Amino acid sequence: MPSNDASAAAAAARSEPPSMPIHLRPAQPADIPTLVPLLVRLKRLNEEFDPLLRVRDDAEGQAREVLKASIADPKAVVLAAEGVGADKDKVVGLVLAVIRERPFYAPAVEGVILEIYLLPLYRRRGVGEFLLRETTAALKAKGAGVVIAEFPAQNEIASRFYAKRGFRPIIVRQARSL
Ligand SMILES: CC(C)(COP(=O)(O)OP(=O)(O)OC[C@H]1O[C@@H](n2cnc3c(N)ncnc32)[C@H](O)[C@@H]1OP(=O)(O)O)[C@@H](O)C(=O)NCCC(=O)NCCS
Repeated sequence: MPSNDASAAAAAARSEPPSMPIHLRPAQPADIPTLVPLLVRLKRLNEEFDPLLRVRDDAEGQAREVLKASIADPKAVVLAAEGVGADKDKVVGLVLAVIRERPFYAPAVEGVILEIYLLPLYRRRGVGEFLLRETTAALKAKGAGVVIAEFPAQNEIASRFYAKRGFRPIIVRQARSL
């Protein structure tokens, strides 16, 4: 079998389109040191959009704890996106999503995407769409009947990304400083 066919077959086995510049896999505790900077970068990006999202001095430690708890939580989905080729073994993106009960609404279980981040070089090439598709499938497999994206209202990248994929606002959170 020619090598192109072999790599296409390997990609198909991992359910990734052959041209996808990443390899997506569940995150492991050993990934935490490489995931922390990505999660903090996302929070710093959100801070740029909204002064009410000022990043705390201890954000790195908090990120470590959140990731550790989420990776161990069977009701969470934590995915690590690794580069391929020269970037093989380099973590270039992450997704963190959770399963939540909905006591008053049907469907009774929702999957909530809390964090989705790709290093800038990997953006706008369809990787985000692939992450969203795979995350949605993982949440559905854990019982979710609806998928929800939580992101800062002022984050225009997220607003456009999700709107393009058919998401619309259903619950609004508003804030003011005290
Ligand atoms: C959100 C994110 C994961 C999407 O991944 P992606 O690979 O760029 O997404 P895709 O290539 O599948 O889709 C691209 C679409 O996303 C939106 N988008 C991506 N980058 C954008 C930007 N800088 N400005 C505005 N919209 C943007 C647009 O709708 C774009 O479509 P277009 O190119 O036709 O305008 C990625 O852009 C990212 O990491 N952004 C920074 C982190 C972030 O804001 N996360 C969401 C909040 S939790």
